[in-house]
Amino acid sequence: MKFSLKVVLITAALAATAVYAADRTDPNAIARSEAMRAIGGAMKTLGGMAEGKVDFDAAAAGAAKDAMMAAATSIPTNFMTQGETDPESKAKPEIWTSWDDFAADAATMAAAVTALDVTSAESIGAGMGALGGACKDCHTEFRM
Ligand code: HEC
Repeated sequence: MKFSLKVVLITAALAATAVYAADRTDPNAIARSEAMRAIGGAMKTLGGMAEGKVDFDAAAAGAAKDAMMAAATSIPTNFMTQGETDPESKAKPEIWTSWDDFAADAATMAAAVTALDVTSAESIGAGMGALGGACKDCHTEFRM
């Protein structure tokens, strides 16, 4: 299965970054961290089904897709205010100097979520590469 390794890598990367929201003080930095964690949680659910680690569940897959879409569309709003005052934030200042690029990455992710077919484990797996690529593109450029 070609997507399997990719899913494993994404899940591992998420586990490594999932600890710092609680120490934040800037409300905006908290909101965006929580939205990203929601995205990460949905990604784990969908990735688990795609890999066959978790039994496919149409309702759970649909809910994960909805949660991911809601969080994806909140990205531009959540990052609109600069949260540099928060020392725990991993957001790079380039977000605000290259805002159009950042917003375009958010739109790419939203398109990948829209395109994700959650009617079977196989169809989820088929969409995982595009989705994971959208996370990676933005994180590489805009996350410390
Ligand atoms: C448009 C850019 C963008 C996209 C697309 C994006 N992210 Fe992020 N993500 C960020 C930035 C920037 C941060 C750091 C935010 C901060 O520290 O304030 C982040 C942080 C995170 C975190 C850490 C949250 C925390 O505080 O614990 C997780 C988990 C995460 N992203 C998962 C994902 C996943 C999974 C995807 C794809 C399905 C994704 N992200 C797509 C920009 C993006």
